[in-house]
Amino acid sequence: MADFDVIVLGGGPGGYVAAIRCAQLGLKTACIDERVDDKGKPSLGGVCLNVGCIPSKALLETSHHFYRARHEFPAHGIRTGEVRIDVDAMQQRKQQVVKTLTGGIALLFAKHKVTHIQGRGCLQARRHVRVTAADAADEQTYSAEHIIVATGSTPVELAEAPFDGERIVDSTGALAFDAVPKRLGVIGGGVIGLELGSVWSRLGAKTTLLVRGAQFLANVDRQIAGAVQQDMTAEGLDIRLGAKLVAVKKSAKLITVTYADGDGEHKLQVDRLLVAAGRRPNTGDIGAEDIGLKLDGRGFIAVDGACRTNLPGVYAIGDVVRGPMLAHKAAEEGVAVAERIAGQQPEVNYATIPFVIYTWPEIAWVGRNSEQLRADGIDFRSGVFPFLANGRAHAAGDTQGMVKILSEARTDRILGVHIYGANASELIGEAVVAMEFSASAEDLARIIHAHPTLSEAIHEAALAVDGRPIHI
Ligand code: FAD
Ligand code: NAI
Repeated sequence: MADFDVIVLGGGPGGYVAAIRCAQLGLKTACIDERVDDKGKPSLGGVCLNVGCIPSKALLETSHHFYRARHEFPAHGIRTGEVRIDVDAMQQRKQQVVKTLTGGIALLFAKHKVTHIQGRGCLQARRHVRVTAADAADEQTYSAEHIIVATGSTPVELAEAPFDGERIVDSTGALAFDAVPKRLGVIGGGVIGLELGSVWSRLGAKTTLLVRGAQFLANVDRQIAGAVQQDMTAEGLDIRLGAKLVAVKKSAKLITVTYADGDGEHKLQVDRLLVAAGRRPNTGDIGAEDIGLKLDGRGFIAVDGACRTNLPGVYAIGDVVRGPMLAHKAAEEGVAVAERIAGQQPEVNYATIPFVIYTWPEIAWVGRNSEQLRADGIDFRSGVFPFLANGRAHAAGDTQGMVKILSEARTDRILGVHIYGANASELIGEAVVAMEFSASAEDLARIIHAHPTLSEAIHEAALAVDGRPIHI
């Protein structure tokens, strides 16, 4: 008999959620995760809780308070004197948030009777996993009826700019700076570049974003991306498009980045450099090749729509498989796989995964944007409502941005909702529910939204789809 019904390899939002759901369904479950904190203690929650979603949002929150205190308090009549940032205190707060939440996962495991095994797991034939503990003193092999691989992802390292852990860093390094850099360079205009670039820029670093592509936020609706670019540039972020990295040189004090654009080669001198050029799946040393676990051309574990791999009883979820690298996508796949193992027939609706970029203001969307709908040859109507015409936005002093709703011309079914503005991350939830229930823009237009709230901008954008907004 196998040691467990299910072994989950990896304790991130994919893995730990899968393990809890398995346990809820009565399956004897173990979760193997190698991660330890700076004191060598096991730290569940994966990238997301330890060095991803949570610490980045903690720093974004601090940088937002700092920015507000400096630039917006005076308009409210709040006088503070000089506002300064204590980076050490900010970092301690961030670590406390991480500690609380990672400790919370350990408690949840104990409550649900999930066995947590600390160590590095390597897949063996016939659903066995060999585990080497952090101190490498102990090696054990466990077996299970089912295995869920949730080993996550790692930052891509560029040959031109190898990480040194101090001055040329990945996201983990940029989350842990001990001082505000005078000049920060960021390679990559994706989500991490924007979020962490914005943290340090708002705390006072002169920040330059080198974006390889010709378009800013290429996968975001063009109207929204244009507004974001304008606002961020006005706030002081130096965004350079079409900037191809040529070389990076380090001297005792400076980092010189050479890049090329349409006008030739340029040099940028910075004190610290964040390289945020994407992430790659952790499949290199999990024993995939030895047991014949199939990978796709980019190194992700190949899975079908139900996260089944080519090996019977072996599933894979989260960042280590195709699809967006998002915590909520990983978690939802974890739930679905657990339920499938327990004999249910769940489905993950990939078409309604919300995307959020947690800058200020935030950018959030679900479904397709105008450019994608045009490319798909779909006839659609668009309703846009600016926060500048929303009462609550004025009361809060957050009038930047807009809500944009796209619906199919013939049926009025909502095909995409795009929000740029304060609390967009929370507002997008309404749009996700609407799309899950196949709502029309008219449905949203007929729903009563509390006044005064930012959500009224969604209501008005839905009215605007039919050309009848009230407040503009
Ligand atoms: P992971 O979270 O990567 O967890 C995998 C775990 O498995 C890790 O703990 C790893 O150490 C462990 N592991 C790997 N190999 C082995 C092995 N062989 N043996 C034992 N253990 C192993 N997503 C969002 O949705 N919202 C956000 O706001 C957001 N912010 C982010 C900010 C940053 C800076 C970063 C880097 C990422 C962010 N993400 C965000 C992405 C999110 O963190 C990932 O999509 C998510 O963590 C993926 O979950 P996962 O369970 O697949 O893998
Ligand atoms: P990304 O894929 O969002 O952006 C990578 C950027 O780097 C792109 O602009 C790309 O053009 C550029 N790039 C790639 N190779 C390059 C090269 N050789 N030279 C110069 N530029 C290069 O990846 P990012 O920002 O590293 O984030 C990784 C993942 O983490 C994202 O896919 C995202 O899913 C997840 N994440 C999600 C967050 C959220 O949901 N709010 C926050 C942070 C990360």
